[in-house]
Amino acid sequence: MTQDTGYQDVLFSHPREGVLQITLNRPKKLNAFTDRIWQEIARALGEAESDDSVRCVVVTGGLKVFAAGSDIGELQQRGMFSRTAADRFRHWDVIHRFPKPMIAAVNGYALGGGCELAMVCDFMIAGDTASFGLPELNLGLIPGLGGTQRLVRAVGKSVAMKLIMTGERIDAAGALSLGLAAEVTAPDKTRDRALDLAEKIAAKAPHAILHAKQAILQAFETGLEAGLAYERRATVLLFASEDKEEGVAAFLEKRKPDFKGS
Ligand code: CAA
Repeated sequence: MTQDTGYQDVLFSHPREGVLQITLNRPKKLNAFTDRIWQEIARALGEAESDDSVRCVVVTGGLKVFAAGSDIGELQQRGMFSRTAADRFRHWDVIHRFPKPMIAAVNGYALGGGCELAMVCDFMIAGDTASFGLPELNLGLIPGLGGTQRLVRAVGKSVAMKLIMTGERIDAAGALSLGLAAEVTAPDKTRDRALDLAEKIAAKAPHAILHAKQAILQAFETGLEAGLAYERRATVLLFASEDKEEGVAAFLEKRKPDFKGS
């Protein structure tokens, strides 16, 4: 994938083999999300989905802010039933259904939609200055991009209720202890750590990674029996893959596997 002129508020780069980095880049407004940014993120992920050279995505912002949520000025200008609001949900559906692994590298504020974007990623690496919150109730709204559902699944009912009802923020250490973040780093190491992990993931068998992601997400959708049945079906399928032959042979021959995604 290459950066073309159609994008204004997100930047792409390929800093590691198999890894696409998407950087939110609207610093003057603390990376607040306009409809255009959602559209650009969704378009980038749509392209990444069909590009076999992209095996893992890292989403990041700046050193001082990941994203301060939806652009509040834009919220003032449009109603819920406008065409743009419908488009926003359509873009969001592309983001939350993105099948490849996606890591959030978060420094500074991740508020409202920023926190929701970080939570929709498969896991988060947070700089120790990161600050997470869902302050939508201060605006007379509720989190509308999955925040009520993903936060409770990540941290449990009591903490989710407290954070959403009060709008209070939690810091990186709190996010780590609650399981919202997978790791905390020094702020200048956050992106590199996420990229290191992304590179490691990108080198694994692509179909196995996709099935692992789907199987884990099934735990939020179904009961244990149905989740186990999904896992079993995926395991049987992967047994028939060439990548499984390669992975097993590479181990036995004491060499690195070369997975082709077949
Ligand atoms: N939308 C639009 N502009 C925003 C913004 C937002 N969410 N957050 C910050 N900005 C703008 C400010 O207006 C300011 O612009 P100007 O310089 O032109 O005045 C600039 O970014 C810098 O912001 P601050 O001066 O406020 O910076 P700060 O360091 O003092 O405070 C902050 C940082 C705590 C993040 C504060 O800006 C803040 O509280 N922002 C709003 C956070 C919020 O409520 N987010 C939820 C939005 S709703 C949502 O996300 C879900 C949804 O879809 C409904």
